[in-house]
Amino acid sequence: MSNKIIIAIDGTSSTGKSTIAKRLAKRLNYVYIDSGAMYRALTFYAIQKEYISKTHFESNKLINDIPNIYIDFKQNKETNKFEVHLNGVSVEKHIRSLSVSNLVSKIASIGKLRKPMVKIQHFLGSNKGVVMDGRDIGTVVFPNAELKFYLDASSELRAKRRFKELVDANHDISYNEVLNNIILRDKQDISRKNSPLRVASDSIVIKTDDISLDQLENKLFSYVTPLLSKK
Ligand code: CDP
Repeated sequence: MSNKIIIAIDGTSSTGKSTIAKRLAKRLNYVYIDSGAMYRALTFYAIQKEYISKTHFESNKLINDIPNIYIDFKQNKETNKFEVHLNGVSVEKHIRSLSVSNLVSKIASIGKLRKPMVKIQHFLGSNKGVVMDGRDIGTVVFPNAELKFYLDASSELRAKRRFKELVDANHDISYNEVLNNIILRDKQDISRKNSPLRVASDSIVIKTDDISLDQLENKLFSYVTPLLSKK
């Protein structure tokens, strides 16, 4: 019997979920899946097709295109990093822009668009040995995940972290734009009807304000080890 488990990491934007999920996956030799990148890729598609903008959203057109939209993850041979692909092409470089960030939560609120994403997530987790981060991983996607974490931190700190990341990646953006986007997305993700951001009842809640990434990694890992030795 495989002793692999599923680790779900949910929480608000920029709490360190993806960094820590990647670290855990590496340490355990597990696969890391960034479920947010899938919603971002879908949003990038909708922007390109002009189905969505600040002022309009033709959700039916996007829903109708779903059978022809193929989203998956492939390893970049140069960087060894897994990148999200939209219809066979890496869109990793485009999906962190503010234009995508400002519209992604609108797209992610539509049940008919979430369903196909969750189907892919189920497939990716079918062999276990997965660390997946997002908003609904412990509540909806893998409610039976062996280990669930919920990360949170103050909006200002999260905005500071995300602002630095984006500036380092050469995005032309202001701190206030990042902060406003984080606040707006939190609100949209928490208040939506379909798979809202919630703390699962069996989730371990961790505040990441005053903790370094190394400390956070060790803290999370301390919950993993006993589970693996039990199996
Ligand atoms: O990196 P960050 O935490 O800012 O966001 P992300 O993980 O890239 O997710 C972008 C957006 O996708 C979120 O604000 C949610 O609206 C949506 N999302 C979701 O609804 N469900 C998920 N499992 C993951 C992301």
